[in-house]
Amino acid sequence: TFPTSVRLVEVGPRDGLQNEPEAIATATKLELIDRLGAAGLAHIEAASFVSPKWVPQMADHREVMTGLTRRNGIVYSALTPNLKGLEAALECGVEEVAVFGAASEAFSQKNINCSVAESLKRFAPVLERAKAANVRVRGYVSCVLGCPYEGEIAPAKVAEVAKALFDMGCYEVSLGDTIGTGTPLKAKRMLEAVARDIPMDKLAAHFHDTYGQALANLYAVLEEGVAVIDSSVAGLGGCPYAKGASGNVASEDVVYLLDGLGIESGIDLDKLAETGHWITQAIGRPNRSKASVALASR
Ligand code: HMG
Ligand code: MG
Repeated sequence: TFPTSVRLVEVGPRDGLQNEPEAIATATKLELIDRLGAAGLAHIEAASFVSPKWVPQMADHREVMTGLTRRNGIVYSALTPNLKGLEAALECGVEEVAVFGAASEAFSQKNINCSVAESLKRFAPVLERAKAANVRVRGYVSCVLGCPYEGEIAPAKVAEVAKALFDMGCYEVSLGDTIGTGTPLKAKRMLEAVARDIPMDKLAAHFHDTYGQALANLYAVLEEGVAVIDSSVAGLGGCPYAKGASGNVASEDVVYLLDGLGIESGIDLDKLAETGHWITQAIGRPNRSKASVALASR
């Protein structure tokens, strides 16, 4: 059955911008975060404390994290792949971080330069340190519906990595269809495997829209009871270590879908759409939200 309300995790400022080749001014990122908050997004992934050599676009993580105007009730989170990233994020007053692993060995190597097992070993002290600092940790699993290097990924492998993150203390595990190859039945089967070990209300769907399947996949997992969805304003984004992967499902399209299903999200679609038009113009990208483009042409 469908949930009555859904929490959106807006990943536009991070996943949406991390792959942009041209420098984006920190001020533009800060304005984006502020506009998203004004539109009702209560959870915004604002930055990524990763190596600037690996992801140059996120090099201003400190400036972003300390420069943002905090609104009441909004969680501003950041990616932290290791203790170095966590320590820097803590210095910036972060209240929530995320570690990111994968269900694919090859992707793990390309993305974070270590095996899946090594990554879990690296995350353990991150979780310990974060807990001591009263900072919540979210866990990502990438390649849950396919890998750019290995192809098919077994649901059992996804379940294994998700469980490891959850057992380690991640309060929520976000399931990433990094390259958007998934289809609804596949998404359901993967979710069923993961949900044997982790309660449904601790799971999130993080679907990229490369093959135009993200909304269909979301509908499938919503029906199973998933109530947390990661999305990116205007469908911005892609992963620098997954060639050809396009952006996340557009936040505007998700809100339109939820509104139609009578599922509460607390988001003002008009304000969100306005933000999508503003940011795509600011960085010279097409707006990949169909709902937003349609609303603008009424
Ligand atoms: P490494 O080279 O193995 O790390 O990279 P290292 O510990 O050997 O350090 C190498 C250098 O990086 C050193 O600097 C460190 O200080 C520095 P040097 O001495 O050479 O000048 N370094 C750092 N600098 C800043 N912040 C840090 C940090 N750690 C080390 N935290 C590492 C390992 C994990 C750092 C690297 O591989 C990395 O940064 N990877 C990030 C890749 C990434 O951000 N990918 C995109 C996000 S994941 C994603 O998009 C998927 C998701 O959306 C879900 C989905 O869609 O599936 C989440
Ligand atoms: Mg992603």
